[in-house]
Amino acid sequence: MKRIGVLTSGGDAPGMNAAIRAVVRKAIYHDIEVYGIKYGYQGLMEGNIEKMEIGSVGDIIHRGGTIIYSARSEEFKTDAGQEKGIEQLKKFGIEGLIIIGGDGSFRGAQKLTEKGYPCIGIPGTIDNDIAGTDFTIGFDTALNTIIEAIDKVRDTATSHKRTYIIEVMGRDAGDLALWAGLADGAESILIPEVKDEFDEVIERLKRGHDRGKKHSIIVLAEGVGSGFDYGKRIEETTDLETRVTVLGYIQRGGSPTASDRVLASRLGGYAVDLLRKGEAGRMVGIQNNKLVNHDILEILAQPHTIDKDMYQLSKELSI
Ligand code: F6P
Repeated sequence: MKRIGVLTSGGDAPGMNAAIRAVVRKAIYHDIEVYGIKYGYQGLMEGNIEKMEIGSVGDIIHRGGTIIYSARSEEFKTDAGQEKGIEQLKKFGIEGLIIIGGDGSFRGAQKLTEKGYPCIGIPGTIDNDIAGTDFTIGFDTALNTIIEAIDKVRDTATSHKRTYIIEVMGRDAGDLALWAGLADGAESILIPEVKDEFDEVIERLKRGHDRGKKHSIIVLAEGVGSGFDYGKRIEETTDLETRVTVLGYIQRGGSPTASDRVLASRLGGYAVDLLRKGEAGRMVGIQNNKLVNHDILEILAQPHTIDKDMYQLSKELSI
């Protein structure tokens, strides 16, 4: 393989730049040219493609976001969209692709592989909702951002008698909420993978209140519903004054943690190795601190699950 492309797709995640850097440098080290495809699959269809050099990825390892930009493309889900993308790959002489993103991005990678363009997927999303890898790039950074924010809310919480709801990202996945809730000693953690636990949450709040607790922290994943609606329900059911903080997009930004930079570098280098070996339709990941790769189709068929023991533990620790 003499020329490959790299793109980032879907929601950006801190550490994507470190992965791009690893892909570019590792490929160039092995005398492979690398083309950066801007704005994900949208840019691929539009031919928004530029050659990358060693210097193109200088000074980016510590930066959040993605220097080649990202997008969510509806058009690329269609056959016609994919054909448009393939035309551009032919035009630029790109023989293989590395795609950094979440499950939606991997669907595109699988389609291109089926149409004869070998693709390797690198899991990059703050949600940590991809099977076949213990961690996705960006999760650790987002988690630390959330914890820093909750610590600050806790400072003001301890000064008042109130219940605080922190709404975190995770449309379909509760990992951020679960890990942040455990790391921050939240009274309740609400995640989309577990059915509505409103009565239990109220019970827990009352119990805490009865034993003299002045404030409580509840971490809620956005996939469960709006933090404001939940807060209203609490106020309507109890006499506890409730405040809501929606952390929003600050969770997607910021300088990646050391863990995310190392993970991104390892996965980026490994993805290039797989393309060089002639592999296609694989997703790279890390399991028990070992680099692994899986069939993308198998990964997409596996539903995301949470660590049930960890969830149970979070309950036992917040009695
Ligand atoms: O996929 C990561 C994620 O941050 C989700 O948790 C969130 O719901 C979504 O992206 C928001 O994405 P967008 O900015 O495209 O609306």
